[in-house]
Amino acid sequence: MKKLIIINGPNLNLLGKRETNIYGNLSFTDFFERVVNKYPNIALEHYQSNIEGELIDKLQEVGYSYDGIILNAAAYTHTSIGIGDVVKAIETPVVEVHISNTFSREEFRHQSYISPNARGVILGFGLQSYELAIQSFFD
Ligand code: DQA
Repeated sequence: MKKLIIINGPNLNLLGKRETNIYGNLSFTDFFERVVNKYPNIALEHYQSNIEGELIDKLQEVGYSYDGIILNAAAYTHTSIGIGDVVKAIETPVVEVHISNTFSREEFRHQSYISPNARGVILGFGLQSYELAIQSFFD
């Protein structure tokens, strides 16, 4: 059974009540429950932190044993050389995900420190972006 983890960065714990016009009305917990039920043949985990160093610790922890990492580093995508470096360092492939189409938003969201070392990038499909990323690990 493939072992995948979704790692979410800052403010994504507020999904469902944060800027709902951009990020939708569904909480991540509810979405995650649906996805876990939909894909019973995958061991899927979820981790969220608002703290940059904790995200780096988690990436180091899972990055040599899991089959795939689905990473939405949220605002740290655009600022964190540390997260960019750990994505480069680890062996597990990372798919970068964003709920919104970051390229249709402010200029500062066009820069990503993760993309150069990600296996691929999926953005702009709402929460479905996460599901598409999961599917990218199917044979
Ligand atoms: C986001 C886009 C980022 O620019 C923003 O800071 C987020 C969420 C997204 O999923 O669309 O917090 O990563």
